[in-house]
Amino acid sequence: MNSDQLETVLKDAEAAHRAACATPLALDLTRGKPAASQLDAANALDGILGGQFLDQDGNDTRNYGGPLGIPELRALGGAVLDAPAAQVMAGGNSSLTLMYQFVDAALRFGFGGQSPWGEGAKMLCPVPGYDRHFAIGEHLGIELIPIPMTEAGPDMDAAEAAVAADPAIKAIWCVPKYSNPTGVSVSETVTARLAALPKRAGPGFTVLWDNAYAVHDLTETPAPLPSLWAAAEREGTLDAMALFASTSKMSWAGGGVAFFASGPQTFAGFAKHLSFQMIGPDKVNQLRHARLFPTLDALKAHMAEHRALLAPKFDAVLKALDEGLGNTGLAHWTVPEGGYFVSVDLVPGTAKAVVELAAEAGVKLTPAGATHPYGQDPQDQTLRLAPSFPPLADVEAAMAVFVNCVRLAGARQRLKERR
Ligand SMILES: Cc1ncc(COP(=O)(O)O)c(C=O)c1O
Repeated sequence: MNSDQLETVLKDAEAAHRAACATPLALDLTRGKPAASQLDAANALDGILGGQFLDQDGNDTRNYGGPLGIPELRALGGAVLDAPAAQVMAGGNSSLTLMYQFVDAALRFGFGGQSPWGEGAKMLCPVPGYDRHFAIGEHLGIELIPIPMTEAGPDMDAAEAAVAADPAIKAIWCVPKYSNPTGVSVSETVTARLAALPKRAGPGFTVLWDNAYAVHDLTETPAPLPSLWAAAEREGTLDAMALFASTSKMSWAGGGVAFFASGPQTFAGFAKHLSFQMIGPDKVNQLRHARLFPTLDALKAHMAEHRALLAPKFDAVLKALDEGLGNTGLAHWTVPEGGYFVSVDLVPGTAKAVVELAAEAGVKLTPAGATHPYGQDPQDQTLRLAPSFPPLADVEAAMAVFVNCVRLAGARQRLKERR
């Protein structure tokens, strides 16, 4: 846009913003939570057991024991993670908890005879990425090293160069399918290079593969995710892989089941570490999930119900972006085929301003910087939109405000740069 066009955009956007602030909304596009309607789809969990508490091996799920989870759910976890059930554990409701416990144990104890990561450990954080991954590392005193995300997953040239140069780098985060927040899925090549990465890295290096959106497709014909397990088996690096998933965004986010898988040494080492913390997970809830999702096909049919609820919200976000910002050069965004987020790159230097402007008009956005380690986006340009939770009409209303704020802050910044 030339300066005259930018002046017009700015003037219109300022007027629209004044009007929006006069009758502020109270809307929230921050966290990727399932909507109540999605939670309702799993309401059969309530009472599904009908007084039958035995798992397929005849064990009473109400009692202590079974630290690796019930066999039915380990099998389901295996199907979700594309790993053999024998190498999968089914735990409590949060995969994030398992990730924290895994990283904490790797740092302090190590697994399968490996030395602990110890003081000075560092981890690679593809950006933009998931704030809570970064928070685990930061909280445990691990240095966070950003590397770029590409359209095929983490930038593997950067990852390989980094681990080869610095043996203190002990892990890389990766959300392989419909990543948080870009929606990117890893390619076959990136998967193969991730599986081989531990061979270039210092001892104890682990790929933290958080497959949180394994079955969260927004299209009817999703591309299959390459198998990390098969690739790592070929490379002989299974013990350097830590795979995570959960049913949080399949059934109930506050009452689901989390999964972990790894090679034999690391699996046994982590299970032993957990045995000091619990006698067994909530197997009753696992059995309820086994009844609701007896097969992967049943789970996929359930996720088709989620798709029907979610796809219109994503369509509304993309329509608003296209109509309000297409051809302006003031923003670029991802068009995810699944997951929970749309990532928007703004005119550098305007992300914080957009969050502030939107707040003035009553729309809460995820804080600028949340997609980067230490909450610092050096370009101040990336924002994450999470449209799953609000009703469709609210998503539409919030997006109208968002788009206007991007036009306002973007035009202002561009004009400032030209002066
Ligand atoms: C990439 C990713 N991993 C993990 C989680 C949280 O998973 P859980 O509910 O199993 O702890 C989220 C939630 O937004 C996520 O986006």
